[in-house]
Amino acid sequence: MHASPYHGGVERIDNAQAAGPPAELIFGDWYPAARVSALRPGKMTTALLLGVPLVLGRKRDGALFAMRDLCPHRGIPLSAGWFDGESVQCKYHGWRFEPCSGQCTEIPSLTDFDLLQPTKIYASSYPCRERDGHAWVYLPAAGAGRVPAENDLPPVPETPKFSAQFRSAHLTADLPCNVDHGIIGLMDPAHGPFVHQAWWWRSKASIHEKSKHFEPIPEGFRMSAHAPSGNSAPYKLLGVYGEPITTTIDFVLPNRRYETIRCGERWFSSLTTVTPVTASTCRIDVVAAWNVFYHVPLVKQIATFFGARFVRQDQQTMVEQAQGLRFHPALMLIDDADKPAKWYFALKQARLTDSGTHPLSGPVTLHWRS
Ligand code: FES
Ligand SMILES: [Fe+2]
Repeated sequence: MHASPYHGGVERIDNAQAAGPPAELIFGDWYPAARVSALRPGKMTTALLLGVPLVLGRKRDGALFAMRDLCPHRGIPLSAGWFDGESVQCKYHGWRFEPCSGQCTEIPSLTDFDLLQPTKIYASSYPCRERDGHAWVYLPAAGAGRVPAENDLPPVPETPKFSAQFRSAHLTADLPCNVDHGIIGLMDPAHGPFVHQAWWWRSKASIHEKSKHFEPIPEGFRMSAHAPSGNSAPYKLLGVYGEPITTTIDFVLPNRRYETIRCGERWFSSLTTVTPVTASTCRIDVVAAWNVFYHVPLVKQIATFFGARFVRQDQQTMVEQAQGLRFHPALMLIDDADKPAKWYFALKQARLTDSGTHPLSGPVTLHWRS
C-alpha cells in the first residue's frame, strides 16, 4: 500500500482491498496532500493525490515543494533518490532538480561534446502551500499546459478564524469509497440519528422534523445562519455564554464544508475536506479551530476524542457501504433529505462542463426529519 503522510487520529484502513466504482475527478484546484509535520528538512515524503504520485518536502529556506514522483528521464520515483535540503537527485542517473520549479540543474553524464542543456528540462512540479498544517497542492488538469502564475491561482483554502488567539485540532480518516460518496455522506442530514447515536449527542428517539434554509453561493450553497438544533449537546455547552448562537454551513466545490458557530466574541469553526486519493478512494480531513473555552485545560483532548469518535462512525459506515458498492448497485437520491447531494452533483457537472449554471436560483427551504 502507498505510504500515506496522514496517520494518527482515526484508524488506517487498507483502501486497496475494497476498491468500488471510480468517480470523475476535478482537477485545477487545491487539495490537502500531506501534513506539514511529515515534511522535515532534508527528508522526502510521498503521497497519492487524485491518482497522481507525489513527492513532497521542505527546502532549507522553508519553501514547500510537491513534484510528480517520477523522474522525467526513465520514470523511477524521485523519492527513491536523495534530497539535501536544496535539490532532489534521481537515484538512477543522478539528474538533479530544483524541486519547487522542477527545473533540471545537472545531468552528470554530459560532456563538453553534448549540446543538451539540462536547464531546458523540467520535471512536473505543482504549487504547494501551507495552511492549517496541511501542505495544499494545486493539481492542474492533464493537458492544461503550464500551471497558472501565482496570481491566477485560486486562494488556498483555510479554516476561518475570528480572533488572533485560538486553538486547533486535526482529524483524518481514509475512506474506501470514491470522493462523491465521501462528500454526499458528509452533507447527508438523515444518517445522524442512526450513525452518530450516543447518549451525549442524540438518539433515534430524538428524531424530529426540521426546516433548513439554503441559499446559493459561488460554486456551492449555504445553510443559512440559524439557531442550531436544541438536541445537540455541544451546542448546549456553548450556550453557557448566554448570547444568541448562529451557525452557518457552506459547501463549496470541489470538496469543502465550512462550518462556523458564533456566539458573541466566541467562535468555533471547521473546514472538512474529502480528498480523492485515487478515483475510487478518498480521505476525510477535519481541521477545527476555536476560541471557546480557550483557557480550559484538556478541551483540545476532549474535542479531539469526541471528534475522532464521530469521524470513526462515518468511516465504519462507509467501510460497510463499500462492501455493497463493489456490486455496482443502482442508487437513489430522495427529496428533501438528499437534495444537497443532488445540488452537489449538479454543481460538479457544471464545473466539469464549464457551463456556468447553478442548481439553486435563489433561497430554498428543505424539510426532513433527523
Ligand atoms: S531515471 Fe532519473 S536520472 Fe535517469
Ligand atoms: Fe456523519
